[in-house]
Amino acid sequence: MAFDIEMIKKVYDHYEERVNAARKVVGKPLTLAEKILYTHLWNGNAEEAYERGQSYVDFAPDRVAMQDATAQMALLQFMQAGRPQVAVPSTVHCDHLIQARDGAQEDLSRAKQESSEVFNFLSSVSNKYGIGFWKPGAGIIHQVVLENYAFPGGMMIGTDSHTVNAGGLGMVAIGVGGADACDVMAGLPWELKFPKLIGVKLTGKLSGWATPKDVILKVAGILTVKGGTGAIVEYFGEGAKSLSCTGKGTICNMGAEIGATTSTFGYDESMERYLRATDRADVADAANKIKDYLTGDDEVYADPETYFDQLIEINLSELEPSLNGPFTPDLYTPISRMREEAEKNGWPTKVEWGLIGSCTNSSYEDLSRAASIAQQAIDKGLVTKAEFGINPGSEQVRYTADRDGLLKTFEDLNATLFTNACGPCIGMWDRAGADKREKNTIVHSFNRNFAKRADGNPNTYAFVTSPEMVAAIAISGDLGFNPVTDTLTNKDGEQIKLEAPTGDELPEKGFAVEDAGYQAPAEDGSEVSVDVAPDSDRLQLLEPFAAWEGTDLKGLKLLIKAKGKCTTDHISMAGPWLKYRGHLDNISNNLLIGAVNFFNDETDTVKNQLTGEYGAVPATQRAYKAEGIGSIVVGDENYGEGSSREHAAMEPRHLGVRAVLVKSFARIHETNLKKQGMLGLTFADKDDYDKIQENDTIDIIGLTDFAPNKSLTLVLHHDDGSSEEIEVNHSYNAQQIGWFKAGAALNIIRKNQEK
Ligand code: F3S
Repeated sequence: MAFDIEMIKKVYDHYEERVNAARKVVGKPLTLAEKILYTHLWNGNAEEAYERGQSYVDFAPDRVAMQDATAQMALLQFMQAGRPQVAVPSTVHCDHLIQARDGAQEDLSRAKQESSEVFNFLSSVSNKYGIGFWKPGAGIIHQVVLENYAFPGGMMIGTDSHTVNAGGLGMVAIGVGGADACDVMAGLPWELKFPKLIGVKLTGKLSGWATPKDVILKVAGILTVKGGTGAIVEYFGEGAKSLSCTGKGTICNMGAEIGATTSTFGYDESMERYLRATDRADVADAANKIKDYLTGDDEVYADPETYFDQLIEINLSELEPSLNGPFTPDLYTPISRMREEAEKNGWPTKVEWGLIGSCTNSSYEDLSRAASIAQQAIDKGLVTKAEFGINPGSEQVRYTADRDGLLKTFEDLNATLFTNACGPCIGMWDRAGADKREKNTIVHSFNRNFAKRADGNPNTYAFVTSPEMVAAIAISGDLGFNPVTDTLTNKDGEQIKLEAPTGDELPEKGFAVEDAGYQAPAEDGSEVSVDVAPDSDRLQLLEPFAAWEGTDLKGLKLLIKAKGKCTTDHISMAGPWLKYRGHLDNISNNLLIGAVNFFNDETDTVKNQLTGEYGAVPATQRAYKAEGIGSIVVGDENYGEGSSREHAAMEPRHLGVRAVLVKSFARIHETNLKKQGMLGLTFADKDDYDKIQENDTIDIIGLTDFAPNKSLTLVLHHDDGSSEEIEVNHSYNAQQIGWFKAGAALNIIRKNQEK
């Protein structure tokens, strides 16, 4: 069930030859990231050296993973591709559609009822096309992938931005949109701009309260949410080797928060221990045979400045426990400075909830170390001042943690155990009182803390930290509590100091599970039928998008000029909208409702140029569509950062937006726009953003000569009768221009299958 050792051996059989071929063309020693990239070229052995940050390269990933929210659209698209089976091993994981409210059992049963149509669709479509299916309750995609499928030196893609978590087991694992997953499952190459390389040298050793989470919180503070864009972050050094495999996973996981393409670590003993503990001794044995190829060359690590585009050095011995937030994951505050920063910035210090879980920090080691803090509190007569919730990462982790008494420890401290699923991390949290929108603080061990993400309340100040710190802060109820120096008063009035956390990297008695929640696909799925009810409001079969009309685009109305941060959460909100991920028309009713309108500083209120009245963004766009008028969306820097959801690209496409023009794009979103046949453009001069006016009608000129590296012209017709031209850039290569012309990449795939 768990993994395909034959596939892995096949990958390893090529390694030596392909790495050597790459060394020859690159002409110097290789980093690990380069080895993995060059061994996964679509065309086999490297014949040329690629230019980092420039060359578009075709790759052949080994696996595809999808979560339930994004799998719906990915598989609806795959169904249009005309294949009998997926071309590479693929899995679906049901983890996003389970709301946290009452506790694990009740929440899971409710979700199974509420989303039965979607789960049945995913189960039957997986069964038909040869895809492994992980049922609701089996766990969070990235924890399950780490436990079952990730392998050193492999390459995978996944329809979730935290696919990068598998870097903890030495993979190059990259978050993509459903359209990319569809390509790879359909047997096509997967294209990526050859990434730049950021090296992070870890020296020293963690101790006390410092954890792997603090490494990535620190890196996020240094690089910010944009600093990793277009780059693979490679961790190395003695410090790297001292970290557990799941700890490495935590660090790679939050590489998504710095915009990195992915992050990875070289194969080492902690990975070998993890592989053996998770029943994959044969993968460890196979990896050991080529282990010199599964890490960067010695020369690279001896002289990293020469080989990486950017280098950061972190001494683990000096790391402090820290919290990042609120509202952005790169605002780094070591705990020793938190009280002062909170006071200075007006962050509420009373903590209402502490939440442990998410794909970032829900391993056995995480639970065991957090439980050591909970146990101290129980032993020393402390109670939690904040509410406390736990989402284990997988059924295997939950079952083992239950067997070993860890869950009982949390329950003894009045924690609520939620399902092995994403829950509050993706806004699937029915938090009592959140609708009152009161200003409050929560701490969690997740990765993202954008406004409204966890509970829908824009006034919830969410701070990201380690599970150990979540436990300590939930017990104290105080954001400024520094367990390294401060004491707490117990029920007898005594001053109590918490000892630093302890725990087990891996369960002493080994992992155990009764029913992991896996369903293998049918050997021959040709007789399996996949039903989608025509009147369903959760699922809708797709219609191909129309091809480009062959002319310049004229008379486009400005739909919105978005101001500041505009993440995929702003473009296609999660939370309650998750349930429409398989129904393009219904989910399009959330288009850009979180984006701030530059002209009035409000969300979801834009001017309808046809009536002069202000209305919701989706309704305004539908009004333009009804009149056959195209529109344009304008945005700021790093537009579309956040998740890989292609809905953020499909919704505007479906509703008739023709172009998105921004100061800069987040990579995944830009690619998603291209796949859906949209125009993704950037200002040649960023100051031209200021020239866009609320009543503008816009022409895009130059499309009949649309070519790589050739800018286009926009004509802005202002409502005072004046007009001006601005130059806009694009990053389309010849193939992507083909997608634009065909109306979408999928239109080309289908045509090719029919041939
Ligand atoms: Fe799920 Fe949150 Fe990870 S939504 S996949 S737990 S980032």
